[in-house]
Amino acid sequence: MIIAGLSGSLRRGSFNTALLAAAAEQAPEGVTVRQLTIADIPVYDADLEAADFPAAVTALKDAIAEADALLLVSPEYNNSIPGAFKNAIDWASRPPADAARVFSGKPTGLIGASPGNFGTTLGQAAWLPVLRTLGCDFWTAGRLIVPQAGKAFDADGKLADEKVASRLQSYMQGFAAFVRARTSA
Ligand SMILES: Cc1cc2nc3c(=O)[nH]c(=O)nc-3n(C[C@H](O)[C@H](O)[C@H](O)COP(=O)(O)O)c2cc1C
Repeated sequence: MIIAGLSGSLRRGSFNTALLAAAAEQAPEGVTVRQLTIADIPVYDADLEAADFPAAVTALKDAIAEADALLLVSPEYNNSIPGAFKNAIDWASRPPADAARVFSGKPTGLIGASPGNFGTTLGQAAWLPVLRTLGCDFWTAGRLIVPQAGKAFDADGKLADEKVASRLQSYMQGFAAFVRARTSA
């Protein structure tokens, strides 16, 4: 089983990119998490889409389409989705005729980390209408938020909190079982 994992942060010391790396480590046997980035995705511009569709967007779309599932690892900005992450997903939904190949029926998980006390709860809620619109098969049975991320990760970005690691492992097991049931991957 291949899970396309996408961090929504560009920051070198990103807690969410670190959480994605930890999710890849915690993935059950037979499950590979491909760690993808939004780093090369330009700001959406319909003129750019029409004239010169960005290669980085095509690569992101293909990586999601080829995977059995999608795992979004999203920071929370102003109680919502960070603009850069929404921008990348907006690009990946273009052109509309190709959006179903990428997103429709795609088993999708969503996790996130924040230095605050609420661990991206509201940011995750903000993703729901987007995932609904894209037709993703969102896994609702599990939820993972990582509050106070500065304490959960060490200086090297390794997940150091055993309780969080255990919750992440449970999330990945549950999500993989969901993906397997949906795709027989
Ligand atoms: C514009 C902006 C808005 C933010 N709003 C929130 C917020 O609403 N809730 C929250 O928990 N953290 C908020 N933060 C703090 C982020 O959670 C923090 O910067 C976090 O480290 C970002 O994720 P990253 O470490 O993966 O880059 C905000 C940060 C920025 C730059």
